[in-house]
Amino acid sequence: MGIEIIGIGSYLPEKILTNIDLEKLVETSDEWITTRTGIKERRIASESEATSDLAIKAAERAISNAKISPEEIDAIIVATITPDMAFPSTACFVQKGLKAVNSAAFDISAACSGFIYGLTIGKDLIKSGTFNTVLVIGGETLSKITDWHDRNTCVLLGDAAGAVILRKTNSSSDILSSYLGANGNYSDLLLMPGGGSRNPTTHKTVDEQLHYLKMEGNKLFKIAVKAMADSAQKAIALAGITCNDVNLIIPHQANIRIVEAVAKLLNVSMDKVFLNIHKYGNTSAATTPVALEEAIREGKVKKGDIVTLVAFGGGLTWGAVVIRL
Ligand SMILES: CC(C)(COP(=O)(O)OP(=O)(O)OC[C@H]1O[C@@H](n2cnc3c(N)ncnc32)[C@H](O)[C@@H]1OP(=O)(O)O)[C@@H](O)C(=O)NCCC(=O)NCCS
Repeated sequence: MGIEIIGIGSYLPEKILTNIDLEKLVETSDEWITTRTGIKERRIASESEATSDLAIKAAERAISNAKISPEEIDAIIVATITPDMAFPSTACFVQKGLKAVNSAAFDISAACSGFIYGLTIGKDLIKSGTFNTVLVIGGETLSKITDWHDRNTCVLLGDAAGAVILRKTNSSSDILSSYLGANGNYSDLLLMPGGGSRNPTTHKTVDEQLHYLKMEGNKLFKIAVKAMADSAQKAIALAGITCNDVNLIIPHQANIRIVEAVAKLLNVSMDKVFLNIHKYGNTSAATTPVALEEAIREGKVKKGDIVTLVAFGGGLTWGAVVIRL
């Protein structure tokens, strides 16, 4: 028995924020952002749009693509670090929006690696016989936790959601392998310090700007390259194949220079690596499902092809999955 992605969908908010727009907000330039990151523009959710709103739209597209009804969904997993609220889970808001009345619903927090973690959990919940049909979503509104005065972070981030529906299959489609890792010793390199039980929200935490995403980009860069290359190699080996057998690598899109360095370590040409960072920037957990949807829609991969999703993010967390579509 394999696990098949029977439907996929994504949603990008309408508003486009270009590098030129950012030149008006902080001391930066289109030239710096383009050459140092590969990003040209990103999408920004409207004031009234929360993460669940993006996630519901992506999920509706995945449900329609899978040709199933929402009642057939047994579990909803939302990977996000920008939940609508601390609780209830964003997955419960998604369940309500979809009228997926027969599903369990929960969130997972693994930052940019969240979708890879979610896909692994979803696959194993089906393989163990607990559920038949699982909806896995990566959804973020990073713009809501971005300090728009901090040029070190605000140029990098964007909003999006991507969703897949998983189900058992007798076809050759399968999630062939999964490798997950983490190192909490690096938790201070990428975090939002305020609002949780460590620093509950007070006037002081707001004054100290603890409710924004903080990042030590330079240190993360080096760890990201190694962790992503290592994760992809381990997942590919676990699948019993080599990099040559992989039709397309879909990496987390935090910085084009990270992606190029990972491709070099894996010894694969950039033709085999999917890129959409120029359009969306880093959308955390939404990045890999949005990219997979785009790669399928643009015909870059087709049924039977092997893709490797690989990501890295706050935690620190990392991971990769190998999928035969
Ligand atoms: C953040 C990142 C783009 C910065 O690029 P970098 O090449 O490492 O740049 P540095 O941090 O060394 O900064 C170089 C200079 O550019 C400046 N700079 C930083 N952001 C800038 C911006 N938006 N515009 C113009 N200049 C900027 C810095 O202040 C610094 O100036 P200085 O030399 O006068 O001090 C890069 O480190 C990165 O992508 N890191 C990984 C991020 C990541 O993976 N995050 C999340 C994981 S999911």
